[in-house]
Amino acid sequence: MAINEKDIGERDIRLFQETISEYSDYDFSDYSANSLRRRLNRILDSYGSDFDRLIETIRTDEEALEEIVKKITVSTTELFRDPTIWQHIIQKVFPRFKLHSSINIWHSGCSTGQEVYSMMIALDQFGLLERANIYASDINSDVMKIAKKGDYRLRFNREYISNFNDVFSPGMSEATGQQFKTHEKYLKINESRDLIQMKEFLRSKPVYKKIDLVKDDNLFFLNFDIIMCRNVIIYFNYELQNKVLRLFHRSMRESGCLVLGLHESIIGPGTKYFQKQNNYYVRMKKDA
Ligand SMILES: C[S@@+](CC[C@H](N)C(=O)[O-])C[C@H]1O[C@@H](n2cnc3c(N)ncnc32)[C@H](O)[C@@H]1O
Repeated sequence: MAINEKDIGERDIRLFQETISEYSDYDFSDYSANSLRRRLNRILDSYGSDFDRLIETIRTDEEALEEIVKKITVSTTELFRDPTIWQHIIQKVFPRFKLHSSINIWHSGCSTGQEVYSMMIALDQFGLLERANIYASDINSDVMKIAKKGDYRLRFNREYISNFNDVFSPGMSEATGQQFKTHEKYLKINESRDLIQMKEFLRSKPVYKKIDLVKDDNLFFLNFDIIMCRNVIIYFNYELQNKVLRLFHRSMRESGCLVLGLHESIIGPGTKYFQKQNNYYVRMKKDA
């Protein structure tokens, strides 16, 4: 019998968390229960399975466990997702680093890479790409393989081009005094193969690494000017959010900027060491 949404109770979620911790290196103990419940329901639907069988599978089938972990972590993303945030990054965040000889950027929870390509395109439009060092990480190594390849289905992603045009609009050109290059400089559209392909000069630039924000430290061992972590901490509980914010604070250069998702904000202890400015946060000197 397939279990339905309201049948997954707190005890089931705890059992799922404990089983994952016991049988793997992953730890979902501090993920938000609501988000876990939604994902577990989807998994049960797709496996046509019940909860007990799912737990048994986690205990006995290592490959299936990896697949389940990947299904728990939501990987939805798009090129220039939330175009207004990108306009803010361009207008408010980039100018802070315009005179820096190097700009270190970390995309934490980069998923299939569209955010990483968006950043590189935006940097290039402002002549900052050559000075930028781009690092990207995720808990899921499969999504990073897609990121490295830089090929996306055209049929599902036509809005990428309209997002691009929204960000680099005539209004933005006027506001920034900048003449923008069109999307052809950055990506190739192949209608017959149903592909959007990122150009090689973008694909070859980022360094990718598997980093689990629950248990890993900053494995790039660098301090960053910009950390992008959008639509990731929304899946974490308050304690884990604060732990991750402390990690970002100690991984940033003085006055570095942290960009979170549209529906994410810093509350609690993080407000003592990150100051909100517009749609992003600035690292304060104070120890986290
Ligand atoms: C919804 S996507 C966000 C992608 C992109 N940042 C954006 O906003 O479009 C969330 C990403 O966070 C990753 N993620 C979830 N838990 C994580 C963890 N503990 N450590 C690192 N990445 C994690 C997922 O694998 C997924 O790729």
